[in-house]
Amino acid sequence: MTTLDINGQRKSVDTVQETPLLWVLRDELGMCGTKFGCGMALCGACTVHMDGQPIRSCITPISALEGKKISTIESMESDRVGKVVQAAWVELGVAQCGYCQGGQIMTAVGLLKTNGKPTDKQIDEAMSGNICRCGTYPRIRAAIKLAAQRLQGAK
Ligand code: FES
Ligand code: FES
Repeated sequence: MTTLDINGQRKSVDTVQETPLLWVLRDELGMCGTKFGCGMALCGACTVHMDGQPIRSCITPISALEGKKISTIESMESDRVGKVVQAAWVELGVAQCGYCQGGQIMTAVGLLKTNGKPTDKQIDEAMSGNICRCGTYPRIRAAIKLAAQRLQGAK
């Protein structure tokens, strides 16, 4: 039995320690906002936060997570930065098919929590590991900039 702290709640899961967090979230806990894309840390669809830092849940075994705070896309509406980012996403109509967007938002929130005023280059670098087959990159960048302005109280 492993106890995980997910979105501020303690969850006990009875699964082998090598199991990637992604499958515990989706299959054991029914939290399907975190997506499976590649399973090899290449696409970013499975991004969650561990102690506030974006990580790839498809390659992170639950054995690495005891005592850590995990946040998923499901908690972003109650996160100060996450809420603003999601509102910017909606306002600018960022999503196309939507599949990659949970991971995109988690990476964007991670960026804005460490850099409140990112340049285009810093946004592109931070987001480079999140792939969007629909090509929504320009709108993602615009939404991150809008969210940054809102968080600074400028707009
Ligand atoms: S599913 Fe984890 S990075 Fe692609
Ligand atoms: S919105 Fe379709 S994969 Fe990104």
